[in-house]
Amino acid sequence: MAQIKDLLVSAVGRLDETSPTAQLDAELLLAYVLDKNRTWLKTWPDAEPSVDEAQQFQQLIERRSTGEPVAYLTGEQAFWSLNLHVSPATLIPRPETELLVEKILAAKTAEKGISLLDLGTGSGAIALALASEKPGWKIDACDQSEAALLIAEQNRAKYDLSVTFSRSNWFSDYQGRRFDVIVSNPPYIEENDHHLFQGDVRFEPITALASGKDGLDAIRRIVSEAKTHLNENGLLIFEHGYQQASAVQHILVTAGFSRVATHRDLSGHDRVTLGYK
Ligand SMILES: C[S@@+](CC[C@H](N)C(=O)[O-])C[C@H]1O[C@@H](n2cnc3c(N)ncnc32)[C@H](O)[C@@H]1O
Repeated sequence: MAQIKDLLVSAVGRLDETSPTAQLDAELLLAYVLDKNRTWLKTWPDAEPSVDEAQQFQQLIERRSTGEPVAYLTGEQAFWSLNLHVSPATLIPRPETELLVEKILAAKTAEKGISLLDLGTGSGAIALALASEKPGWKIDACDQSEAALLIAEQNRAKYDLSVTFSRSNWFSDYQGRRFDVIVSNPPYIEENDHHLFQGDVRFEPITALASGKDGLDAIRRIVSEAKTHLNENGLLIFEHGYQQASAVQHILVTAGFSRVATHRDLSGHDRVTLGYK
């Protein structure tokens, strides 16, 4: 039987051409099959997985070599302090999206009893991260995808957090409701962008990624309705593409939002833009 170190070497060789993170992918997949963590693999490189485990690992490596994302193969992705269930119905939460959570917490630190709406919640990542930090906030979240909402609800139940999920086409389910904060990581990629048809992204739902010719249809639509759903001095905050900051600022300023500002992610890219009613 093969040892852990041999299985990893041969898997990395198989993935090297197709994945920029071959070593990490192989370790995550083997740890998943063995129900251990990566530290365990490094501590016991001579351990011998069973034949069944080795076969299951090989099958996952083959699927990964066709581009299938590790998160869809394992069904989980870390976000903030949570380990979230994901499926091909949900976007895989990205580390840069944690900037939205940070900025909301920084803006509303001293305030209790905040009401917040997360538009396009996917796996529930943003809403659940905030609920885990602020159990006293009243948090609503929606998606148009019923399948995504089922995953979000599973994640909520896993951590016993307080978030109310609804199926809604942006604000359609929130007529007459107002919030202190509206947050969204909406689809924002240009519909003809070649990246949509390459690499891991091919496996993610197109409705979570693309939004019209310039990628800004969803943001324009949300901004156009946001004021009727925000309390006075309410915060509207978006994630967007790294080249979209000035366009998003323009949309917000034109709609009459004040104190409009953009923040950079850890890679130094413009990533989050916000404004106040
Ligand atoms: C970029 S993903 C973000 C998912 C999650 N918030 C995250 O950050 O990982 C955008 C989400 O918006 C949802 N969405 C797209 N159009 C929508 C609409 N018209 N109304 C509500 N949600 C929508 C998609 O289903 C998808 O889950």
